[in-house]
Amino acid sequence: MTERTSNVDSLMNAAREAAQTAYAPYSKFLVGAAILTEGGAVHAGCNVENASYGLSICAERNAATTMVSASPDDRRIKSVAIFSPNTSPCFPCGACRQFLREFGCEEVVVEDASSLRRYPFEEILPNSFGPEDL
Ligand code: THU
Repeated sequence: MTERTSNVDSLMNAAREAAQTAYAPYSKFLVGAAILTEGGAVHAGCNVENASYGLSICAERNAATTMVSASPDDRRIKSVAIFSPNTSPCFPCGACRQFLREFGCEEVVVEDASSLRRYPFEEILPNSFGPEDL
């Protein structure tokens, strides 16, 4: 899903909506993520599991790969919102933190008891390794 938005509440709404499409028959743990790009585009994704469990893909990485395919000229991440109806707040896993880092993610937004918490990315993945280090 790709659309345009400007505020963090609608970004979280996009993540919430994406969680509804999660394919999680094994864990039953539904996750949605929505990325806001520097250019103002929103790209959402859900987790997609597989009978070969290790092939499962997280919502955040699905949102990021959608961004890469959909907007080759607008691939810098301002913010990513993550939502799960199963747990709150739902933080990104370690692999997804590194994946988001690749695209310069500046902020992570999670929901806590229906209010939003915003974290600078440096707090989420301190002293990280990225494309600038190569
Ligand atoms: N999951 C995500 O989609 N994002 C996260 O950051 C944490 C975990 C998914 C993967 C798997 O489908 C399910 O949640 C349970 O781990």
